[in-house]
This record gives sequence, C-alpha cells and structure tokens, in this order.
Amino acid sequence: MKIPKLTERLYKIAELVRENSRLADIGTDHAYLPVYLVNTGKIDFAIASDIGEGPLERAKAVAEEYSAGEKVDIRLGSGLETVKKGEIDTAVIAGMGGMLIAEILETSKHLAQDIELILQPMTADDELREYLIKSNFRITKEVLAKEGEKIYNIMVARFGEAEEYTEAEIYIGKLLREDIYFSEYLKRRIKKLKNAIEGIEKAENPDRDKLERLKKLLLETEEEFYES
Ligand SMILES: C[S@@+](CC[C@H](N)C(=O)[O-])C[C@H]1O[C@@H](n2cnc3c(N)ncnc32)[C@H](O)[C@@H]1O
Repeated sequence: MKIPKLTERLYKIAELVRENSRLADIGTDHAYLPVYLVNTGKIDFAIASDIGEGPLERAKAVAEEYSAGEKVDIRLGSGLETVKKGEIDTAVIAGMGGMLIAEILETSKHLAQDIELILQPMTADDELREYLIKSNFRITKEVLAKEGEKIYNIMVARFGEAEEYTEAEIYIGKLLREDIYFSEYLKRRIKKLKNAIEGIEKAENPDRDKLERLKKLLLETEEEFYES
C-alpha cells in the first residue's frame, strides 16, 4: 500500500489519532492525513471534508493516487456540518486560524461535545484555549511540531470538566513543559510579548489599558514558566 509522506506537523497529528477511530478531517485540503491513516491501517474509514471545491478536487486526486478512494469519503461543506451525529468519534481540525476553529466548534457544539477533538491552530492558539476552557472542554494533551522556523501548537480536547487556567497558562498552554520544543517556544512567546509592549510604548497615543494588560501577562508568564 502506497503511503504519503507527512510533514512533522501532520505526522504528530496522525500520532494523536487513536487506532480504529471513526475520523473526520475538517478542512482536509489535500487529504494527506486521512489517506495516511487509512493506508497505514491505523483507521478503517475517514471523512475528508472541506468548504472549498478546489481543495476537494485535490483531496480526490490524492485519494485516487494512493488508492484510498474506498476508505476516504470526500464531502463538501462548512466545518462539522457535513457530519451526522454518531457518525464519528474523532475530528481533526488543522491548519486554520484558532478563532475559525472555535467558530466551527461553536456552530456544531452538540456534535463537538460528543467526540475527541484534535485541533491545530495556525494562529491565536491562546484564543482557542480560552474558548475551549470557557466552553467546558478539557484540554487533555498538547504537543508542539516544528517545520523550518515555524513552531505549531496541537491540542487534544474533550467536552466536560474543564480545568482552571491562569492568564499565563492560556497564553502558553499548561501541558507543554516536557515538549522538546518548549524552551524555544517559550522564549519566542516572551519575545513576542516584549515586542508588542515596545510597539505600544513607542506609539504616539499608546493604548494604556492594553499596555498594562500585556505587562502583567509578561510578568506572570516569566514567573510561572521560567525556572529559577
Ligand atoms: C491550510 S488548509 C489546511 C489543510 C490541512 N488540514 C492541513 O492542516 O494541512 C485549510 C483548509 O481549510 C479549509 N476551510 C476553511 N474554512 C473552512 C470551514 N469553515 N469548513 C471547512 N473547511 C474550511 C480551506 O478550504 C482549506 O482547504
């Protein structure tokens, strides 16, 4: 069986999918992830869903190229709306902005509350974390992936028993301390905060509230995450 080669980001997502899951890959684009999972035998069936016709053409071509057409059901539509309740036990939503992922979950919350979620935001991971916690999803695992110079966040979440998070934990995540990329990730996050603070301080009419908020977040992040 021909198996597509995944990048580190997609490979780490694939590793988080449980064996024999009934999976939907939302925003599948090229469908490399579901094709990899069915062709390695980790799962028997996947829905590959996307809002765009162009991406679905790519998905069909890849499924055909890797002879996975019978096991990958390609569907057109937004978010989880292409999936019926009870049809899947896991959804991957990867490669989109964090707020779009949150919107997709909110739109289909009755379905999202029943399944395991594997989420990989390209931006705004902190806002996605905040949405998950406020909506009573528990983040059960977090992983970082690195491709070139970019570090990506991957989270696993399930509805119920959300934990309390401090502001700094929302910004950084609280399950990443043991990750091989954590120290580099933390340094970058702190630098990002410092740059934002510097930018506001240099502005002609600085937004004082935002400045105070970011300074407090920087202090708390350094205190909570830097080892002495
Ligand atoms: C950058 S690609 C990510 C592809 C793949 N998931 C990955 O991580 O490599 C983002 C895909 O999300 C799709 N998309 C954007 N909004 C969507 C929505 N509301 N529902 C489903 N798919 C969406 C886009 O059409 C695009 O194909």
